[in-house]
Amino acid sequence: FFSNSGAEANEAAIKLARGYFYYKGEPRYEIITAKMSFHGRTLATIAATGQEKFRKPFAPDMPGFKYVEFNDLYELEQAVSGKTAAVMLELIQGESGVHPASQEYIKGVRKLCNEMGILLIVDEVQTGVGRTGRMFCYENYGITPDIMTLAKGLGGGVPIGATLCTNKVATGMKIGDHGSTFGGNPLAMTAGNVVMDQFMDKDLLSKVNNSSAYLFEELGKLMKDYPSIVQVRGMGLLIGIEFQTGISAKILKEKLLGEGILVSAIGSSTIRIAPPLIITKTEAKIFIDKLKKILKEQKKRPLQEVAAYASSAKKETEKKEDHIEKELEE
Ligand SMILES: Cc1ncc(COP(=O)(O)O)c(C=O)c1O
Repeated sequence: FFSNSGAEANEAAIKLARGYFYYKGEPRYEIITAKMSFHGRTLATIAATGQEKFRKPFAPDMPGFKYVEFNDLYELEQAVSGKTAAVMLELIQGESGVHPASQEYIKGVRKLCNEMGILLIVDEVQTGVGRTGRMFCYENYGITPDIMTLAKGLGGGVPIGATLCTNKVATGMKIGDHGSTFGGNPLAMTAGNVVMDQFMDKDLLSKVNNSSAYLFEELGKLMKDYPSIVQVRGMGLLIGIEFQTGISAKILKEKLLGEGILVSAIGSSTIRIAPPLIITKTEAKIFIDKLKKILKEQKKRPLQEVAAYASSAKKETEKKEDHIEKELEE
């Protein structure tokens, strides 16, 4: 089913899981998700999101969701009940710091779901469509989900969401149960086709894997030279770089922005990079060089000065932007 965003794709997945048991005549509706997950910003998807800050202002929460610790199979086993319809997971928790699920955990979740007749929904809105070096991240785990959601990379910037499922689970929706005016519109579908052509004709996955190997290798070297980097994690071109407590991810983000590099600050000391899948080694090297330059300076300067440097770098960027805007106006 095609929709227009990741949240919509997840809404359809949640409805599908509930509908599947409704049409089977089984009173199951509950969906178990992970703490620190992120599934979108609509009412059902914030209810699925295991982070209170996204739900609190919009209470009361939509009922029927339960949260368990990520990567803890025992806690999941304890949470399952006769009401459980599905387990919904990101294989790499992207929004909360790029935390990959362990192989044993995902294999264990799949086994548990099979044994208990529970559906496994995999949210691949961020990890799908080549981001982790495979077309879908679940391929890295040797399992198959019952329902999978996609969005971000699917349209190469044009809004598309997609909810996919097995034939068995497709019985969870009858004609008219779900729909979308713009879902599957010709513009979005054309963009999606172009993205798929790029994968098939240009062997995009090999490129992703090559750039990824280069970035992990170089970040590994940086980690040896700069102990302020405590961990580099992720897969493919979804990478989290965690720094020592006290090093502000926000400041690093601003400093990198001053150097013309866009990253996101997640949590207090982690930055996330998710470069375009077509990034070249030369471009990846620019990032490594800029990060190295900042880390070198940081070694010399005390942290308080780093904050001052960051705000001056931000002002410098704003000045440049003003200048470009004026030039464009002229
Ligand atoms: C894993 C995951 N699921 C769902 C969403 C929501 O997607 P959208 O912003 O397209 O609604 C996101 C967005 O960041 C995401 O990372």
